[in-house]
This record gives sequence, structure tokens and C-alpha cells, in this order.
Amino acid sequence: MLRRRLIAGSAALLLPRAGHSAPPPAGGASLTRIAFASCADQGQPQPIWTAVHDYAPELFIFAGDNVYGDVSSGDLRELRAAYAAATEIPGYARLRRETPLLATWDDHDYGANDAGAEFPWKQASKELFLSFWGVPADDPRRAREGLYHAATFGPPERRVQVVLLDTRWFRSPLKPTDRRGAAGRERYVADDDPAKTVLGAAQWDWLAARLREPAALRLIVSSIQVLAEGHGWERWGNFPRERQRLFDLIAATAANGVVFLSGDRHLGAFYRETAGTPYPLPEATSSGINKAFRSREPGPNRLGEVVGEANFGTIDIDWNAGRAAMALRGIDGGIRASLALDLAALRAR
Ligand SMILES: [Fe+2]
Repeated sequence: MLRRRLIAGSAALLLPRAGHSAPPPAGGASLTRIAFASCADQGQPQPIWTAVHDYAPELFIFAGDNVYGDVSSGDLRELRAAYAAATEIPGYARLRRETPLLATWDDHDYGANDAGAEFPWKQASKELFLSFWGVPADDPRRAREGLYHAATFGPPERRVQVVLLDTRWFRSPLKPTDRRGAAGRERYVADDDPAKTVLGAAQWDWLAARLREPAALRLIVSSIQVLAEGHGWERWGNFPRERQRLFDLIAATAANGVVFLSGDRHLGAFYRETAGTPYPLPEATSSGINKAFRSREPGPNRLGEVVGEANFGTIDIDWNAGRAAMALRGIDGGIRASLALDLAALRAR
């Protein structure tokens, strides 16, 4: 019964919108097919959804910039229009109707480019998010600040925990670059100020509690990149103390199975960090649904080449073998980059 209750609890968090109940993974079974993506411009065609539906994910994760609705005033009319337009995109609408979903936001569905805690209309923006994503009336996100959230799926030995961070609501101001556009410091430079935060105190405490819960695989969804170094766009490395704090928290909680998922960058790539981490931590960045560019980022932590075309990410889990196959796929569903994970290697030794 515990298993049934857990799945039911997760399913309740996954209703795409009121009146439309996407089925949870059948019978309490463990997840084996997960897809994720970010950066979906509702004003442009989104042909990739056909390939997403062909992949038939049991769970789909929106990693932010799920619409582009930067606002110019407190009525948020641009963001309202963006969400309304997204409901009219057939593949997007079908996903919301048929597939269990989880979502967090990034700057362009928060309401302003690269915005953080200072954004004046974040409460109204949050209401639009909760409505669009059909977040239930009794969901804890409605009773606290921000949109951080977690859900678990499957029996204990095959449990997937999805932790969706809010990297906007609490985030301190970024330190602007002194040489705009220069390689490695395009917009921002690292800020070593110990008073600055990405997650804020309440979300840090919540995350510590989540990381102490048992799981076999933890997908930590951060709209901005966690591990990527060497570029001066938004990333956790803008606040190196916070980035190290995240690694230290994973070590202190003995959290096994961590894989970061991110978006935002308009490129796809895999990364791995070994410095200052309890074990080699992988990251998959999938961006975007229909906004992607070739990048010249030096990528000191990157594994392989950048995927410079529209893409979505997939995770195929073989529980019997203890392995997961991650891939970045193009609009034809074909694999453009891949990363094999040994789940047993995702723990401190
Ligand atoms: Fe973004």
C-alpha cells in the first residue's frame, strides 16, 4: 500500500491542467523512460514534439523558459499571452494532456531576462505558472515562496527522485562583466561574496531534507547550468561559493545517484565535474525546443561536442543492469550525443 500511496501522491502533483488527468506510471512500476527539455518559444514552430511523442516518455520534465513572456509592466500581459499561445501548439498541448509532467521556470517564464529575487512581479508570475501547469490547490508550492518542488516514483530500490530547483525567486544580483561579450565573461563574472545566494535559506534547508530521502537516481533540475565552466552567461559558477555548497551538501547528506538536468543555454551538451565533488557528478543540458545555436564555449567540463540544434533529452533506465543511457535527440528523434551512466558509480566511495 505504501507503494500505491507514493505513486498516487506523485500523480496528484502531475495533473497537467484541471480536468485533464494524465495517467501516472502504470501500477507503481519504476520509471524507465524520462524526457526533458527547455526553451520553447511559443512564437515559432515547435516541430520537435512529434519526436517527443514518438519517444513516449513516462515522465516529461520542463526545465524552464517553457514559454517566452518577458514582461514590461505589472499586468504581465506578455506572459499571459505567451501561456495562451502555448496552449494552442498541438504537440505541446498533447503533452500537457497525455503525459505526466513536472516543471520549473527560468528567466523568460519568470518574467525578465536573467532576473532574480529583485523581479517585482514574481508573485503574479508564479500564479500564472501554477495555473498553466495545473498545480493542485493543496500543493505546498502554493503555501511557500518560490516554486521549488520534488516528486518520487517507483519502489525504494528503483526509486527516481526528481528535485526541481527554483534558481530565480531568491537569487542575488549577478555581478556584471567588465568586458561585455569577451570570451569567458560575456555577461557576468564570478562573485565570491559570501552573502550572495542562488537558492536562498529556505530552499537550501528543503533541499538538504530531500537529499536525505532514499532514492536510486536523483534528477536535480536546475534551469541554469550547474557544472559548465568557462563561459560568462548565467550559471552556478557566477556564485562559486554556492556551487561548492551544493557539492558539499551532496557529500554531507550522502546523496547517491545525483544527475543534474539543465536548460537555458540554447545548446545541448553533457558535462562532468570531479573537483570538489563526493563522486563524479554528471549534467545534461538540453536547450532548446526550438531555440538553439552553435556555441564556441570552451567547456572545460564538457563531455564531447555541443549539440547546436533543437533538441530534447532522454533517459532510458535499465534497472536490471543498474545503468542509464542519456541522450540528446534532434527533431527527427535521432541521437546527437549520448552519455552512459553506471548508477553504482554515483555514490561516494
Ligand atoms: Fe534562460
